[in-house]
Amino acid sequence: MKDKNKMEVPLFDLTRQYEKLRKDVLKKMDAVFTSGNVIMGSNVKAFEMEIAKYLNVKHAVGVANGSDALRISVHALDIHEGDYVITTPYTFFATASSIVLNGATPIFVDVEEKYYNINLNEVENVLQTHPKKEKIKAVIPVHLFGKTVDLERLENISKKYKVYIIEDAAQSLGSVWYYNTSEKKFSGTVGDLGIYSFFPTKNLGAYGDGGLIVTNNDRLADRVRKLRVHGATKKYFHDEIGVNSRLDEVQAAILRIKLKELDNYIEKRIKKAKNYKDLFEEKKLYKYLDFPEYFDDRTHVYHQYVITLKNSTERDKLANFLKEHGIGTSIYYPLGLHMQKCFKNLGYKQGDFPVTEQASKNTLALPMFPELMKKEQQYLAEIIKKFYKNH
Ligand SMILES: Cc1ncc(COP(=O)(O)O)c(C=O)c1O
Repeated sequence: MKDKNKMEVPLFDLTRQYEKLRKDVLKKMDAVFTSGNVIMGSNVKAFEMEIAKYLNVKHAVGVANGSDALRISVHALDIHEGDYVITTPYTFFATASSIVLNGATPIFVDVEEKYYNINLNEVENVLQTHPKKEKIKAVIPVHLFGKTVDLERLENISKKYKVYIIEDAAQSLGSVWYYNTSEKKFSGTVGDLGIYSFFPTKNLGAYGDGGLIVTNNDRLADRVRKLRVHGATKKYFHDEIGVNSRLDEVQAAILRIKLKELDNYIEKRIKKAKNYKDLFEEKKLYKYLDFPEYFDDRTHVYHQYVITLKNSTERDKLANFLKEHGIGTSIYYPLGLHMQKCFKNLGYKQGDFPVTEQASKNTLALPMFPELMKKEQQYLAEIIKKFYKNH
């Protein structure tokens, strides 16, 4: 029998947003097609300028996706075989594969409890004590789920240990950090290079793939621009070997429309995070799970809303229970990168990164997108409450 109280609550829904943007998007797409200028046209240029202005950064270079943005960034810093790069094992695969694709070796460092960003104390410890410390060229921190890593400390680490920083801000576009001087900077803009992804689920999502590299360094900007077009500064004249990784003109046109809405989207996500917190507190769910704090100062832009279960044996049961009740969830990430088959040769073993390993068993991402409705969040909180009543 059909349960008439059952609601369908997707983890993410692009169609609700499209309803509002449809007219604009179709008009802009038509203009691109009519112009016949479908590769690296005026929209790519304009978008690069507009987003550089938004982020208060000197250069923004569009590329095909966030994974390429990372790979090109590592390349642009001349990191290659024999070099080492510190990063987190609790992230999307591309953060670490970008290092290996350039011939270098990742050194994983565990994450902090609660927000799962790279543990900067451990980073410093590795920079001081690793047997190959002279060969460590860079650190790639990830502003995971949209929570900003301490940017001021990253800058200090870079200066103190003379290492490059490539910020993986794929999930955190629009998030900020407040310096002691009360100056405010955007995640992604402090490192030598910063990267973003416009994968459709991201806070600024395209209708396909897209990525961006930003920098304040003129030389690196030129290098990155060259690397995205097969290493050529002039068509068919190649200074070095690069790749084909251009931001699509149609996607750039769409991103220009959405960039105007980005602050509005972020405000809405922050509001959803507050709703979740209020609901979980009201239902006393903190007995069973930890959930992200509510920050209205943009130090978290809630790309994902990830809860941590106190009892890890219940995670998959809760996910299934929510699914039975029409609610979508996801696990970011079910296996730390240090335990991935393809990184076996790095020699890591189970137990090396306890916080990562625990998080891969007891975290669960709940529905989070700007158009998520309050009644859907209420329903979700009721179903979680019901789960704990039954168990
Ligand atoms: C942390 C992180 N880095 C890199 C990427 C790669 O971005 P893309 O999917 O655009 O290649 C993603 C996207 O999922 C990500 O979440």
